[in-house]
Amino acid sequence: MKKLVAFAALLVAVLSKEDFRGHQVFRIVPKDDVQLALVRVMEDILDLELDFWSWVTPVDVRVPSHSLQVVKSYMERHSIKYFTMIKDLQALLDEERRQMKSAAPAGNTDSFDYTNYHTLSQIYSFQDMLVVENPKLVSKTVIGHSVEGRPLNVLKFSTGGSNRPAIWIDTGIHAREWVTQASGIVFAKKILTEYGTDSVLTEILNRMDIFLEMVVNPDGSGTHNQRTTEKKKNIKQKQNEDSSCVGVDLNRNWNAGFGGRGSSNNPCTETYHGTRAHSEPEVKSIVKFVRSHGNIKAFISIHSYSQMLLYPYGYTRNPAKDQAELDQVAQKAVTALASLYGTNYRYGSIIKTIYQSSGGSIDWTYKKGIKYSYTFELRDTGHFGFILPANQIVPTANETWLALKVIMDHTLKNPY
Ligand SMILES: *[C@@H]1O[C@H](CO)[C@@H](O)[C@H](O)[C@H]1NC(C)=O
Ligand SMILES: [Zn+2]
Repeated sequence: MKKLVAFAALLVAVLSKEDFRGHQVFRIVPKDDVQLALVRVMEDILDLELDFWSWVTPVDVRVPSHSLQVVKSYMERHSIKYFTMIKDLQALLDEERRQMKSAAPAGNTDSFDYTNYHTLSQIYSFQDMLVVENPKLVSKTVIGHSVEGRPLNVLKFSTGGSNRPAIWIDTGIHAREWVTQASGIVFAKKILTEYGTDSVLTEILNRMDIFLEMVVNPDGSGTHNQRTTEKKKNIKQKQNEDSSCVGVDLNRNWNAGFGGRGSSNNPCTETYHGTRAHSEPEVKSIVKFVRSHGNIKAFISIHSYSQMLLYPYGYTRNPAKDQAELDQVAQKAVTALASLYGTNYRYGSIIKTIYQSSGGSIDWTYKKGIKYSYTFELRDTGHFGFILPANQIVPTANETWLALKVIMDHTLKNPY
């Protein structure tokens, strides 16, 4: 009977989809460490079901409707300043969904709707169209399968040669960061339209290969044709009725300071690092790929949100040995990015710019000798947070592309 009830509950959850009616996103502004610690206390009260979107102070948190009153009075009691960033999360999601449904199905990559979010199967069919249309420039490799068995597709952009020095770009490692994989689609199309027309990109692609994994975390990213507001994934991994205790934070699962501060061994938290380094197939596949390729010179992992360009390290305060150069390139990149719409980015090492975070991808790649290892946090700074409206996809991708080209160009001109 218990099993049956659990199964019925699961079915209802899948069919009715998650509902965020009445959920709000608060921005909390702790004035000192004491207040910050008081905010952290709330994280441990699991009944509140708080979902922290950003710990870079100010703190952004999604509060379910049943917890609004408790959270508000807690904050007032401790005189902690806060305000409402998103009044009705479901209204934003409904609008996004309405727009997704209105998008016309595309028969080729020219008619593809770049101004909209897409389901996983639409993203995968975009990749196949791109390969069919440009067989001389792009091919698709499946580097592994996700926990739930979905293919992990990587596009290879190449004009020939064998095992040329390469640039790696990934998007969609965290399930709710939809603007990143939507930008990945725009980048892919840009590489093909700029090859032969843009001198910088042409020069890069004449001498290097570009690898792009658009959806690192396919189980989390729109599996049920709808957006998740959660970060993790792996529904199969924990056969647990408590849905908040599934999945691993794929950006805490790498063998660089694995298990250290800024990650958690509690499966019920957002930053759960998994049972051991590289335990997750989505991570292991990239590790295997990077190792066997052996000639990757830049590794760029793209997240959202908060508008930052970051370099190693996240797990230690020791500066990276190439810190001066990484910092200089970052400054050039964010300047190029801002040249389009004035979007302001902060930059620096992960630990100094955000917080300590262990087991992250670019710390591992940097330690493996990939000097130009960077992480982006795309738009915005919290007004919409993860639910960035679709009309910002192309502007976000276009400005980010300028920064990516600075990093790729620098990599090309500074062989090592
Ligand atoms: C983005 O870049 C493309 C060229 O790659 C251009 O056609 C388009 O107009 C740009 N859009 C915006 C909103 O900047
Ligand atoms: Zn992320």
